[in-house]
Amino acid sequence: MVEAVIAQKLAILGGPRAVTVPARERWEPPKEKIKEVVCRLIDEGAYSVAGVGISLEFERRFAEYIGVPYCIGFDHGTSALWAAYYAVGVGPGDEVLHPCYTWICSIAPAVHMGARPVFCEIDPERLVIDPVDMERRITPRTKAVSIVHLYGNVCDMDAIMSIARRHGIAVIEDCSHCHGAEWDGKKLGSIGDIGCFSMQGGPPFGKPIAGGEAGLAVTSNREYYERMLLFSQLNRVGLEQELTNPEYRAFAPTNFGLKFRPHPWAMAVGLVLMDSLDYRNERRRQYRQKIYDGLAGVPGVRPLKSYPKAKPAGFYGGMHLMYHPQELGGLPVERLIEALQAEGVDMHHRGYELTHRLKLFAEGYDIYGKGVGPLVGDYPGYPPGSLPVSEEAHRRILGMPVFIEEEPGYSDQVIAAFKKVTSHYRELL
Ligand SMILES: Cc1ncc(COP(=O)(O)O)c(C=O)c1O
Repeated sequence: MVEAVIAQKLAILGGPRAVTVPARERWEPPKEKIKEVVCRLIDEGAYSVAGVGISLEFERRFAEYIGVPYCIGFDHGTSALWAAYYAVGVGPGDEVLHPCYTWICSIAPAVHMGARPVFCEIDPERLVIDPVDMERRITPRTKAVSIVHLYGNVCDMDAIMSIARRHGIAVIEDCSHCHGAEWDGKKLGSIGDIGCFSMQGGPPFGKPIAGGEAGLAVTSNREYYERMLLFSQLNRVGLEQELTNPEYRAFAPTNFGLKFRPHPWAMAVGLVLMDSLDYRNERRRQYRQKIYDGLAGVPGVRPLKSYPKAKPAGFYGGMHLMYHPQELGGLPVERLIEALQAEGVDMHHRGYELTHRLKLFAEGYDIYGKGVGPLVGDYPGYPPGSLPVSEEAHRRILGMPVFIEEEPGYSDQVIAAFKKVTSHYRELL
């Protein structure tokens, strides 16, 4: 069967497409349940309230799921990260380490607290921060590292935690893509000092637990929990009881005037989606593994590697492969993608841009127009070639959707399409 497909002319050269089944998610989000809980809140008049009712129920359920005592809801993942940076003491003059391959929202809150971003190489076979390079970039000014389990791929938590503890720096886990993923049997978000989760988007393509626009921060550290409340949760119900530190309680309920509280409807949607999270993660893991197994031995493409203790999940942003052009006669990546897309494979190139190469971080900028701030003065900037390992790897990233319930036969046809295109690569040169 696959042999017959491989024998056909490439679709990009006028032959038949290898993929005839649509690239479509068949899993149905629980829309009726979502409508029911949101409508109930409307009936109850719960439009703007946090720290009680369904919001509190969801925070408690999520904390229990992650295996930590404390969870706070936010209006965005970005604000959860902001509060986390505040909690661990990030401020003007500090440096914060970040992987160079992530979404800017992971970095921006630390910059707006006055901290200079220091970008680290990623592991080119895993797409997450390289702990060896991370350690090399630690200076006496380094206050924290914010690691990102990008696209659900798990960072080396043993290495990161041991480096961080040795140097006395805080670890913030950005778990926006990986709700439910694990390291050595522990849920991600529970291992670093604080775990932050975006809940942006809706099911099935938004964050694994989505709620439109919202976020979450979890921690086992009471001091960090109280500092996050103090920083972000103006007028949250029960705030004064939660702030046990008298220094902090003295500011309640207005705190520092920042209201990054979540919308209760978003929390309600999150609560509904918790019921299917493990199912969706398991199905996506199986789908991804099926493609990875099916492509074993196919020249030019390789699955992402995973650390032995890692259990990836979430897969926001899809699943990824690394391209090795030397195995296909130097065929340019764009040409490979064109040929696969012509066969009917739903795929993309690279995903996020490299953050150190975004204008803001590559050149620096006087954001506040005052000649002070983290991106002016002796800010070094990041010209092309400053993070060579990541820049080289970035050109070779191939991305594809990862389905919970695929259209029957789609993944088999995708595997056949890869085999067909790579067998005929000389015709594309
Ligand atoms: C890795 C990462 N961190 C942080 C965020 C910010 O989350 P939000 O959009 O909820 O503010 C996102 C959003 O996509 C993200 O992908």
